Amino acid sequence: MHTVQEILGKMSIEEKISLLVGAGFSKLVHGAAGETRPVARLGVPAVVLADGPAGVRVHPLRLGDAQRYYVTSFPNEIVLASTWNVELVERVGRAIGEEARALGVDVVLAPGLNIHRHPLCGRIFEYFSEDPLLSGVMGAAYVRGVQSAGVGATLKHFAGHEQETNRLLYNVAASERALREIYLRPFEIAVREAKPWAVMGAYNKLNGKYCVQNEWLLTRVLREEWGFEGLVMTDWGAGDNPVEMIKAGVDLIMPGSDQVVAELLKAYERGAIPGEVVDARARRVLELVAKSPRFRGQEGSGDLKLEEHAKVAYEAAVEGAVLLKNEGALPLPEKPRVALFGRGSYWTVKGGLGSGDSYPRYVVSIADGLRERGALVDEEIERVYRGMVHRFYEYGESLQLYRAYREGALAKSDSWLIEMLMTHFVDMMMEYTRVMHLQEDPFTDAFLEEAAQRNDAAVITVSRISTEGFDRFPVKGDYYLRDDELSLIERVSRVFHEHRKKVVVLLNVPGPVDVASWRDKVDAVLAIWLPGQEAGRAVADILLGRVSPSGKLPLTWPRDLYEIPAARTFPGTPPRDPEEVIYSEDIYVGYRYYDTFAVEPAYEFGYGLSYTAFDYRDLEVKLSGGEVVVRLKVRNSGRYPGKEVVQVYLRALESKFSRPFQELKGFRKTKLLAPGEEESVEVRVPLERLATFSGGKWVVEKGSYEVRVGASSRDIRLRAVLEIPAEACYDTSWRRVEC
Ligand code: GLC
Repeated sequence: MHTVQEILGKMSIEEKISLLVGAGFSKLVHGAAGETRPVARLGVPAVVLADGPAGVRVHPLRLGDAQRYYVTSFPNEIVLASTWNVELVERVGRAIGEEARALGVDVVLAPGLNIHRHPLCGRIFEYFSEDPLLSGVMGAAYVRGVQSAGVGATLKHFAGHEQETNRLLYNVAASERALREIYLRPFEIAVREAKPWAVMGAYNKLNGKYCVQNEWLLTRVLREEWGFEGLVMTDWGAGDNPVEMIKAGVDLIMPGSDQVVAELLKAYERGAIPGEVVDARARRVLELVAKSPRFRGQEGSGDLKLEEHAKVAYEAAVEGAVLLKNEGALPLPEKPRVALFGRGSYWTVKGGLGSGDSYPRYVVSIADGLRERGALVDEEIERVYRGMVHRFYEYGESLQLYRAYREGALAKSDSWLIEMLMTHFVDMMMEYTRVMHLQEDPFTDAFLEEAAQRNDAAVITVSRISTEGFDRFPVKGDYYLRDDELSLIERVSRVFHEHRKKVVVLLNVPGPVDVASWRDKVDAVLAIWLPGQEAGRAVADILLGRVSPSGKLPLTWPRDLYEIPAARTFPGTPPRDPEEVIYSEDIYVGYRYYDTFAVEPAYEFGYGLSYTAFDYRDLEVKLSGGEVVVRLKVRNSGRYPGKEVVQVYLRALESKFSRPFQELKGFRKTKLLAPGEEESVEVRVPLERLATFSGGKWVVEKGSYEVRVGASSRDIRLRAVLEIPAEACYDTSWRRVEC
């Protein structure tokens, strides 16, 4: 096998430049988002790139092919982060990598590492958290998992891509400190800890320059400071100047077209792109190709292992569910008779739409899952809901019909834009139409009265969908509940409480929705988010007490949308097609804002209830070998087996800088602890993690810090004071420098 250098040495300039531009939507794997250009003469194959964070996104149907190419639909990233279980997220990554490889995909376009700056971000479900450490650590785990299967992972969207409104054009104005400490940090952690094959430049501008044409971002920070050695690609259709992209540090312009190849060739011929730059970029593409299964003649190898992966998807859905409220309602009694309300109970939203979507063989609805686990789901109520939706919208049928339509009408189109719009748009409209417009409160008082008599409890599912390309809106039916949803909750609660029956609300949502206006009416609230294909099984096992919920919020759940710091500047100005988004809250994002300015959220960062309880004791904190070592014991003091997420926050007690009240610096999820069982927990925090960014360098301040160990950012169980004896400063490559 020739080396990359040898192949490069044999290439003409035309061949080298063709490597820098994608070949459009994939022809090799139908439905995959893109592929590179081959150089057949030298044995360089095209490699295939496919989305997405929740599963490999390829079309399940192929024209003239009787086989079906379904994949596993995993829980979305916000659910993975809610598990706080690094090892589990790595297993999800590995499963996605295995399915990618079996389908002939060489690079997975995931994970998304942008920050939950605002709860209405349309792709919040595709990102992990408001906290950069949780995001980065989960992102690194996901990358390790995917790449352990021999295919590549891609960090996206680099960087400052925290909204969808006007996504191709808006400019983010942010301080270097906010970028370094918050928005770049997850990418830096994942680059250093997991060495991803690729990074994808975002659509937006950053401090005036398109990310994909921003040399400071792509070359200075990513390569020179962080030592990234993989490939940099653009998002699909990002930027406005291919020559600037290549000069700024892009290796691969996606999805690519022949016009772009011609434009780059002309630029080279007129000396606008030096030969050594073309060589450097072409080398990165060849290095990626050389790692790919396709280059090694292993494309489409292995099987999808859908049965085994379904179990991983189930586990992540269970551990990612967050119990927000429980006053004697959960778990439900054995073999309960359940009055199941809400369209999402029967058409449970498995994931978000757009490039983050995926096409499974099935989605287990909450009704299916409860029935499969032996609960008695009220048939009268189900009949009412099923009567409202035309069969056409049943998931499987509509998908088959729709895909067949699209295969016939569009399969031959080489216009990627139409394909992309059709793929995203119709998916979105279909899902949206099917689920979101059902009338939620068609029940008479008499009907509810009888339902309350013949059932043991009521469960109401509130569902929302979200998609790439659009942010969510602060209106009824999106962030706020619709009048019919509110009246359903109000009436069911009143009638069931009259019969001393409990009422549980399930939040099948991509991100936070308003809870303040109704949560006092009900007995329990469980956030299941968008939990993937195994949704119903995971939810049923939690409701029936087969497993205790152990999820914790990866974001702050607002009590009032307008209390959040980004409320004033999201989605930017002017309101219609924002050009300018000023990150005026700077580093005070999420709990960094709420805790510093004493604002009360609905539920705090890191919060989540369990069916059991945990005691914390014997905290020890010491400095050892450049690390803060935190040790303690956690005991299950309740009646159920359960897992606890031990969180370690640090608070600088004296600082010459303006700093957040506290910041997450480490965490550890225990194993499943039986009642009475105790686990010794150790969390090691590298000293660098205490640094704040000031004056172009990282500064670890001398002085006292409060180490706050707890079950959430506000449920602190143990405290200790740590003395840092001397100041330490680092450059942006983390080399020690003079302070
Ligand atoms: C989309 C998305 C990106 C995706 C790419 C390929 O526009 O922004 O996340 O990976 O195009 O589908």
